Amino acid sequence: MAKAKSSYVCQECAAVHPKWAGRCDTCGAWNSLAEEATRETTPKGLSAKRGNKIDFVGLDGADQDPPRRNSGISEFDRVLGGGLVAGSAVLLSGDPGIGKSTLLMQAAANFAQNGKTVYISGEEAVAQLRLRARRLNLEKANVALATATNVRDIVSTLDSKDAADVVIIDSIQTMYMDNLESAPGTVSQVRGSAQELIKLAKRRGFAVILVGHVTKEGTIAGPRVLEHMVDTVLHFEGERSHQFRILRAVKNRFGPADEIGVFEMSDRGLAEVTNPSQLFLSEHEGDVSGAAVFAGIEGSRPVLVEIQALVAPSALATPRRAVVGWDSGRLAMIMAVLDARCGLALGPLDVYLNVAGGLKISEPAADLAVASALVSAQSAEAIDRGTVIFGEIGLSGEIRPVSRIDARLKEAEKLGFTRAIVPKVRTKKSKNASNMTLIEISHLREIEVILAPKPSKSSALG
Ligand code: TYD
Ligand code: MG
Repeated sequence: MAKAKSSYVCQECAAVHPKWAGRCDTCGAWNSLAEEATRETTPKGLSAKRGNKIDFVGLDGADQDPPRRNSGISEFDRVLGGGLVAGSAVLLSGDPGIGKSTLLMQAAANFAQNGKTVYISGEEAVAQLRLRARRLNLEKANVALATATNVRDIVSTLDSKDAADVVIIDSIQTMYMDNLESAPGTVSQVRGSAQELIKLAKRRGFAVILVGHVTKEGTIAGPRVLEHMVDTVLHFEGERSHQFRILRAVKNRFGPADEIGVFEMSDRGLAEVTNPSQLFLSEHEGDVSGAAVFAGIEGSRPVLVEIQALVAPSALATPRRAVVGWDSGRLAMIMAVLDARCGLALGPLDVYLNVAGGLKISEPAADLAVASALVSAQSAEAIDRGTVIFGEIGLSGEIRPVSRIDARLKEAEKLGFTRAIVPKVRTKKSKNASNMTLIEISHLREIEVILAPKPSKSSALG
């Protein structure tokens, strides 16, 4: 007969230790061992007891798409993949104060119009929640409000037929299970509470949205344990000093990942921004050196963003590199390519790079725009205002083609741009559907020729 025995498993590397220790000697992580009961298998392995037969089915079946519920906030619905799926678990994570509770309160009010919606807060008192609802002009909405932190109470309350259609838990870090020793917010509490709530949601068929705070290191507290358990992970990001907020799907079992929704925080809550391009293009008079407009793709949508660079003589032995909204390793690579292949040495200079509007870009297609901004900043010559730029840069300085060129050009044309600097497509001549002037380049070397202002147009400084 199997014998129950406990062992200590490292939560970082899964190494098993017979005794508890403060540090895992396999991976070196501190305080990562947790007791787990294991059951020794018999010498014969699993064969001692037969399991049930599993039925196999074909890939082609007549299952219907899962039913979805609309939040009435189209940016939110799109990021979810077309609305909230019944029985699904969503994790909404973000820095404290970014607007998670505000977004969910607004969504809850809409969900409540055609389904029973429950908002359970472990962070704020009812009076505070009501105050927010009043501020958002939603105090008439039919949302069932409660403050609770004990998962046992929540499960007992919601464990009945038609108890709820949508349940919002704000936040998972404040929830606790009374059968676990550790304090609320610890990994085991967060994982245990989430597991219970998700299990209940699947059984009763309601959608559950869990709010999760992000720790300083950028992980959702509890080494990303929750990300595996839920169907959808949404990040709410933005600078608190900016009023723009970006909702990003980083995982979605019911829709495309990497979709973004853009919001603007106002004194009346979050407003949708349906044309984000206008937001990420800064409005300055005349031409400014160091600014390049990148035609990017975020999720399914093309978005134009201004990339700004500044170079200045450095007073430091190790010049400063400050990057906002873009990967600093990638910036170093582009600077190295500019140096090695084009002879543009930025090494002794301080370099600042900023993506306007608080957007974070991860597309390599922005390489060429970043390089253009740097070249423009260094030469103090502006890039023509009506120009958009995109293309990936390889280590030899070649410009590689990127995806969805037509969508990028269409968006740029819609916003009044007239010229595009794009990678040369060798294989098939891409049909230029737009009326824009395309300047195709195949090597970074060609970049400076393009950036030099035409003689008829003097720079803003002139
Ligand atoms: P909140 O939703 O409480 O953030 P989170 O739940 O992510 O911690 O929102 C916090 C900020 O939003 C707070 O600083 C005030 C601001 N805010 C507005 O600017 N306008 C509004 O209408 C509301 C409700 C909040
Ligand atoms: Mg909150």
